Amino acid sequence: MWGGRFAGGPAAVMREINASIAVDKRLWREDLTASKAHAAMLGAQGIISADEAAAIARGLDRIAEEYAAGKLVEDSALEDIHMHVEHRLGELIGPAAGKLHTARSRNDQVATDFKLFVRNCADEAIAGIDALEDALLARAEEHAATVMPGFTHLQSGQPVTLGHHLMAYVAMLARDRSRFLDARARMNESPLGSAALAGTGFDIDRDATAKTLGFDRPTTNSLDAVSDRDFAVDYLHAAALCSVHLSRLAEEIIMWASQPFGFVKLPDAWSTGSSIMPNKRNPDAAELVRGHSARIVGDLVALLVLLKGLPLAYAKDLQDDKPPLFDAHDLLSLSLAAMAGMITDLEFVPTKMRAAAAAGHATATELADWLAANGVPFREAHHIAGRAVALAEATGKALDELNLADLQGIDPRIGENALPRLSVEAAVKARGSAGGTAPDRVAEAVAAARAARRSR
Ligand code: ARG
Repeated sequence: MWGGRFAGGPAAVMREINASIAVDKRLWREDLTASKAHAAMLGAQGIISADEAAAIARGLDRIAEEYAAGKLVEDSALEDIHMHVEHRLGELIGPAAGKLHTARSRNDQVATDFKLFVRNCADEAIAGIDALEDALLARAEEHAATVMPGFTHLQSGQPVTLGHHLMAYVAMLARDRSRFLDARARMNESPLGSAALAGTGFDIDRDATAKTLGFDRPTTNSLDAVSDRDFAVDYLHAAALCSVHLSRLAEEIIMWASQPFGFVKLPDAWSTGSSIMPNKRNPDAAELVRGHSARIVGDLVALLVLLKGLPLAYAKDLQDDKPPLFDAHDLLSLSLAAMAGMITDLEFVPTKMRAAAAAGHATATELADWLAANGVPFREAHHIAGRAVALAEATGKALDELNLADLQGIDPRIGENALPRLSVEAAVKARGSAGGTAPDRVAEAVAAARAARRSR
């Protein structure tokens, strides 16, 4: 490509370090799409002839068929996907192929291709999030009234409903979804026509290529356009945080499936056995979702560090933007799909959850709330309820096994109607404030999430 200036060829290792085709061949569709848009614009503007534009378009279509059939032949001498396409085009249509590269550079070309790819990744992430949300909503609806322990510090705090717990992840996913949408909207400007770094002297129509490629408008600064990878960082940030949410859910599934918890049974489809211990049923899929999140966070950090010292405009360091993005996209897609499958197929064990919810005198706050609702200052009510917990512990009973005489011995203001408030079912039912755990609120939250889905 630069034989005019160079007398000698590259060293073997130079060729190897320079070639990116093994990685960026994944951009072939985007490269062909952007090249077709560029060639059509060159033809429409009279920069190349209509015949040349038509020949290029036919050649690019033919290459698309070849590549779709797996006929891309990798050649490290041709460096990257852009040169592979141009070379093949030359073989197919002859010298007119050389006109495709008029008024563009690989710098605006790769920025455009990569943006088209990342934009699609954002769309796929949103589809994956929607599928997981469906799975969570179905299980939350089914378990709107199932009682489980609610933890702080991983100590039983107050009983909650399983539906409410699952809906917490729906809330996280709604934010993830909006981050991907936001990234998509911000990135949707076309770099094509920025050429190498300074723009071009040809009378190109950047609005036309932007429109053809589904961009909202062309980018505004050629130096920025060829060196900007913020769009990939935005995607990776959204992916990293989404994967952290999946990792937290994965960790809970792993914990819940352990024998001391026993809150869930892992179905065969999402478990592995052990080659030595016949009893084992391991939560490998959940563990891999948790592990993949580390890699996705690493991918975000890799790209940020890649960018931080780069002077304007393009530098070859930018070729290393693709591996972290491809890695994160593949891992996130798998993680979302695996999590949706696990959530759908998990067998919850409500009896275990309820027993754990009742342990640890988890309704002590209920007793304090009852007293406070009956005129006792909350600080004093807290103290009285604390003494009731101490009595229960000393006598080896659960708080809700104390009788009225026991409780009135601690404070005579405790009335008979306080007793039914101390069951875990009553406790969750009472927490009916907006966004609270009461079964009715959970059913409303599920309905609201479904209505939000329908209105998009
Ligand atoms: N393969 C390169 C990349 O992915 C394409 C751009 C090359 N531009 C250049 N001036 N060498 O970044």
